[in-house]
Amino acid sequence: MTVSDIGQLQADLTDKNPRIILKKALELFDNVAISFSGAEDVVLIDMALKLNKDIQVFSLDTGRLHPETYRFIEKVRKHYQIDIELLTPNRDNLDAFVKNKGLFSFYEEGHQECCGLRKVEPLKRKLANVDAWITGQRKDQSLDTRQNIPEVQLDLAFATEGHQLLKFNPLVNWNSGQVWDYIEAHQVPYNELHERGFVSIGCEPCTRAVLPNQHERAGRWWWESGAKKECGLHAVNLK
Ligand code: ADX
Ligand code: SF4
Repeated sequence: MTVSDIGQLQADLTDKNPRIILKKALELFDNVAISFSGAEDVVLIDMALKLNKDIQVFSLDTGRLHPETYRFIEKVRKHYQIDIELLTPNRDNLDAFVKNKGLFSFYEEGHQECCGLRKVEPLKRKLANVDAWITGQRKDQSLDTRQNIPEVQLDLAFATEGHQLLKFNPLVNWNSGQVWDYIEAHQVPYNELHERGFVSIGCEPCTRAVLPNQHERAGRWWWESGAKKECGLHAVNLK
């Protein structure tokens, strides 16, 4: 697609509801994958399956997810009878990193290096083999980094040479309340951590429950400032 085609597509999808954005992504691309984090973005799987039985779903298994999240991923796999591809970090690089820096270096040095190995590198590998990916990012997830995310964009952070990559964000205009209304109305399974004050869920050592009315992002990498709370998956937001 030319840059102007993508601009037109974005104009057509602006402010559209998640189903329409998802439908367009599935119509335009056969080789498109949903990036599932093991949290409320399960609604994407539920919606996509109602549009097309043949969807591709992957999750980044950092090795540091909560046991509840692993159980949830399995629950989703069985509930919808779908394959969920679990992507693991490069073993040699991870072994060397842990040997050198231990298991909790992110509290002292920041999360970028660990996220780089455990999330970004496996994602890069996956995205080199698809034409588009679909995420559950929403504007209301971060005042610092997610206010300007579009419905669809060229992902220049993960495109490889000669290979165009599009990124669709169907939930971009929904707020958390709308996601939870959908979960309730459609009886979508959810991560049991949500029953214990967890809102935004990532890796276990870097996620905590939030207090009532505290912003969900306050539960992620709480020792770092807001603008740094992107792990590299959505590097395009920082450009
Ligand atoms: S993060 O970059 O801060 O970790 P966040 O938890 O807000 O991301 O999730 C936003 C979207 O990023 C999710 O809806 C999902 O599409 C993708 N994502 C985040 N973590 C993962 C993961 N471990 N595996 C796959 N996709 C993920
Ligand atoms: Fe490592 Fe924490 Fe990033 Fe997970 S969220 S990859 S444990 S720094």
